[in-house]
Amino acid sequence: MIIPSQKHLFDIPDDVAYLNNAYMSPLMHSVVAAMEVGISSKVQPWTYASDQFFALPEEARQLAGKIFNSSAENIAIVPSASYGIQTAANILPVSSGQNILVLKDQFPSNIYPWQDRAAKVGATVTQLQIPEDDDWTRVLLEAINSQTAIVAIPQTHWASGATIDLVRIRAALDDVGGALVLDLTQSLGAQSFSASDIRPDFAVAATYKWMMGPYSMGFLYVDPKWHQGDPLEHNWINREGSENFSGLTNYREGFQPGARRFDMGEKSNPAQLRGASAAMRQILDWGISNISETLDIKTQYIENELSRTSITPVDQNLRAPHYLGLRFHGGVPENLAASLAAEQIFVSVRGPAMRVTPHLYATDNDIDRLVQALKGL
Ligand SMILES: Cc1ncc(COP(=O)(O)O)c(C=O)c1O
Repeated sequence: MIIPSQKHLFDIPDDVAYLNNAYMSPLMHSVVAAMEVGISSKVQPWTYASDQFFALPEEARQLAGKIFNSSAENIAIVPSASYGIQTAANILPVSSGQNILVLKDQFPSNIYPWQDRAAKVGATVTQLQIPEDDDWTRVLLEAINSQTAIVAIPQTHWASGATIDLVRIRAALDDVGGALVLDLTQSLGAQSFSASDIRPDFAVAATYKWMMGPYSMGFLYVDPKWHQGDPLEHNWINREGSENFSGLTNYREGFQPGARRFDMGEKSNPAQLRGASAAMRQILDWGISNISETLDIKTQYIENELSRTSITPVDQNLRAPHYLGLRFHGGVPENLAASLAAEQIFVSVRGPAMRVTPHLYATDNDIDRLVQALKGL
């Protein structure tokens, strides 16, 4: 189902064509209102009952479970993608001589933890070269072998918008006993994903892009087989019985159940949690397949309009519906993003591609303004 413009839910002036959701989504009015309720708990702390320390995280966990297509028991609340990836890097087995596969020009939060782990155990990190045809699935399938301990990749490449067939990657890893770690920051909330079907070992998404939520928050999916792993930090609230505030110094060895042991310290931030939950409720209300279908029409329109220019996107069958990475003959012109910004048209340049990433707030007029500006180059 195509969703009509949802601009009325956002605070975006009419002369601003914001086509840069991959950088940061704007907060909806409903999310701001929910965050303000959260802030009021800190303004008047006597209104913030201790049971809210548990109720608000559980509400967010339930909603995130629906978005990951998984039980809430497998979801941890984290501050960032890097926190989730580091948790995975500490837990997953990898030994000397084994290999960790990543993509060339992948986002650094999904690189540094692997370089560090590999250096400690004598493993190697291989950055797979960018395929000329953008078919990362083929390149990954060719590279996975009996030495592959871990494949740590996104669903959609943050610079080009090229997307990966995760079902096939999981199947290849099953054959060699390898683990799959996913950074879904540039896809979860806008592109279909099912943890039940893909069975990643770990998968993380920061909330401030396609999850339409606040900054400094994310959700980490942890497969049940790793629920006994070491958390990144040992905080009081993740231990068994922490609901009893007067008994906290009866130090306990056990943890809260499921993936809760991986929750970050001070997870019970009412503004962040209420904001993230309000955003996820709206996403579920729209429906992720409807968001994806609607954004596909917007990005395809741009692509078709530019088809007679020398600007080329990733092949339509290989790119994510919500994500248009445009390549220019001879590279993205210097200052292009800045000169578009001067006309109140906002996109971003990452590596060799200019990212055009509208969301449901983008109107036909916004998109036409970009098309006309690019055609005029
Ligand atoms: C693919 C990807 N992963 C993660 C992030 C953010 O990482 P972190 O939450 O570690 O700051 C970004 C931000 O641009 C991103 O594009």
